[in-house]
Amino acid sequence: MRIPVIAGNWKMNKTAKEAVKLIEEMKPLVANAECEVIVCVPATAIYHVSQAVKGTNIRLGAQNVNAEEKGAFTGEISADMLLEFGVEYVIIGHSERRCYYGETNRTVNLRTQTALNRGLKPIVCVGETLSQRHAGKTEDVLEQQLFESLYGIKNFENTIVAYEPIWAIGTGQTPTAEEANKNISFIRKVIRKLHGDKLADEVRILYGGSVLPSNAKEIFAMSEIDGGLIGGASLKAESFAEIVKSIK
Ligand code: PGA
Repeated sequence: MRIPVIAGNWKMNKTAKEAVKLIEEMKPLVANAECEVIVCVPATAIYHVSQAVKGTNIRLGAQNVNAEEKGAFTGEISADMLLEFGVEYVIIGHSERRCYYGETNRTVNLRTQTALNRGLKPIVCVGETLSQRHAGKTEDVLEQQLFESLYGIKNFENTIVAYEPIWAIGTGQTPTAEEANKNISFIRKVIRKLHGDKLADEVRILYGGSVLPSNAKEIFAMSEIDGGLIGGASLKAESFAEIVKSIK
């Protein structure tokens, strides 16, 4: 049995003060969730959110972690800095970081290894561009991203994978639920090759990209889809809670 997950990716939104307000609004609405609820908040809000979620079912996540323990890496954040405030999850390799901040499969791999070694649970993102999709290359792209991003990882157990077609992020466009399910099933197949049956059956694979209260139920009804990584719709307590409620 894979416990479903709904993770909010707040991206570069919400000051610490706004973040606490959103958490307070969210708390009663997701208190009876039948899935794991995670919020991946901006670094500057981590401390405040860590206090605000104490004693609730909302788990704390970050949006990036550096592979190095410490040192001259201006602007970067280490695993220990996140762990200090009770961060449990961390998004790694989001397409916005891959596209705009030079993240590659190699850096995703190093960051994922560090996260796992330090006891953080990575949410590793993969997904194809629109032109790769049109060229019929989706499976090739996913396989290479997974192979290189997860290369040599021994303690894979606590990893979550998010399938996020880049063309669906923030665009209002989504693949059909069947197509998302098929691609996630393919991802599981690749993980089976890399990590064997047990871990492939256990790993939670999320769909992300324009999940809304209006389409969530259909997407999460799919057998291979274990939840969602939610961007825009996670910034309002009501829409996030509705998405959380759409999963059983
Ligand atoms: P979106 O973003 O839900 O706004 O499309 C998803 C994501 O980038 O994780």
